Amino acid sequence: MLLAGLAASCAEARSAGPGDDPLEPPHRDACCLLAWRPAVLKPAVLVRGTTPWNPRTAAASEARATAGANSGPAADPAAGTDEGERPRPVSTTTTKNPSRFGFASHLACRECGATTGLGGTHVCAGCFGPLEVAYDLPELTRSGIESGPPNIWRYASLLPVPPGVAASPNTEPGCTRLLRADQLARELGMAALWVKDERGNPTHSFKDRVVAVALAAAVEMGYKVLACPSTGNLANAVAAAAARAGIRSVVLIPADLEPQKIAATAVYGGTMVAVDGTYDDVNRLASELADEREDWAFVNVNVRPYYAEGSKTIGYEIAEQLGWRLPEQIVVPVASGAQLVKIDKAFRELIELGLVADTRYRVFGAQAAGCAPVVAAFEAGYDVVQPVRPATIAKSLAIGNPADGPYVLDVVRRTGGAVADVGDPELVSAIRLLARTEGIFAETAGGVTLGVLRRLLAQGLLDPGAETVIINSGDGLKTLDAVADGSGAPPAIRPTLAAFRLFEESLPAPDSP
Ligand SMILES: Cc1ncc(COP(=O)(O)O)c(C=O)c1O
Ligand SMILES: [Zn+2]
Repeated sequence: MLLAGLAASCAEARSAGPGDDPLEPPHRDACCLLAWRPAVLKPAVLVRGTTPWNPRTAAASEARATAGANSGPAADPAAGTDEGERPRPVSTTTTKNPSRFGFASHLACRECGATTGLGGTHVCAGCFGPLEVAYDLPELTRSGIESGPPNIWRYASLLPVPPGVAASPNTEPGCTRLLRADQLARELGMAALWVKDERGNPTHSFKDRVVAVALAAAVEMGYKVLACPSTGNLANAVAAAAARAGIRSVVLIPADLEPQKIAATAVYGGTMVAVDGTYDDVNRLASELADEREDWAFVNVNVRPYYAEGSKTIGYEIAEQLGWRLPEQIVVPVASGAQLVKIDKAFRELIELGLVADTRYRVFGAQAAGCAPVVAAFEAGYDVVQPVRPATIAKSLAIGNPADGPYVLDVVRRTGGAVADVGDPELVSAIRLLARTEGIFAETAGGVTLGVLRRLLAQGLLDPGAETVIINSGDGLKTLDAVADGSGAPPAIRPTLAAFRLFEESLPAPDSP
């Protein structure tokens, strides 16, 4: 039972969060409330702070549970016995032998701590809180992990996936570079700064990690189609992973997504649905579809407990790449908030397993000012997050109703971190700074993360003398419009030395700002 308590440890009394219930209103204006199903307040609301609004609705969650959306697809004889039934608490059997979900032992509610068996369930039957995976882990050693494959499957024992996962066709994400960013550190006046560069993944963002885990679990549970609502990168990752695994994909995106992300998804040949609405509208539609399509695994909806675990591998890798120790500070982009929450979970697991020393670390979250609901809650001292309507060029972070928002607040408060935001001009300037100093072309989410690092330093909230890691979660080639102004091609010159010299004279002196 080494880690079975970890998931439940988050389940202390709290006020209800907006969670991943896409039937909830994405914002509070009249048009949305018209489309919103009738709301009934969650039965037991335990309050830790003052909140403006409790967006979780029992009625919506119950509607889904009754319709069977919280269960797996109809019976695959090899897929166990939990599918098709409503979630129920089960006794936890401890075993050191991996099951069909490896060393994962059960699902635990992050709100009330109730447990249920592993299966296609994502909402607690008792309180409608989100479920997460808990484990009964064997002893693990650094050398055992180091001798594993050069991708996320070296940590397969810490993920809810079948033991033979590495052998099935998959995109093999992970083991991305952790770059020491000395020139950037010098510019920022920092002692030691690292960039975890997630561009190295197969579809150039960290989403390949979460999708690989979701796909492995979904196939194990008998789902036949891989699907998602996406702000772009997830659509890329789902379409590619499904193509590689030889199954159908269906991705739902807001119609106004960056053209590069649309093209980079379409090329894999799955079904792409462009929806006229925000990501939160797309997410709500996906949840309704998940109710209806029994054998569709919406990676971030009905198999979300498994999907989210994939982000732990970023945390494991950082620790391993630092020589099996934790950084003192880490800055993580926040959309749904799952990545940040799972990096913290990874650090705590490594400590508990004795793989790293129990040193203090602080976790910081980064949002774009045009979509900063978690920042607003953090600054107001709330435990829950009030949804907003996004308006930012950082589209990959444009989730107005973040499922893991309350848990992000927990993590940053527990570790002594913070959540902060930057405007679009600052994020663009940060993209240029990272490119100019370290040769890393980040997408808008990376610009937000570095922009927030700068802001936190300026505010004195982040220690410039402490070793810090920032996550560059995606690739600038997918958000080219962000830097199109002023960085376009220079005017053409004639192919003569004279023309070159004239051109050279027109350049600013190297030292000028
Ligand atoms: C590039 C990029 N970075 C960060 C995030 C945020 O991830 P999370 O939803 O886990 O907070 C996303 C989400 O789509 C993303 O695409
Ligand atoms: Zn519960």
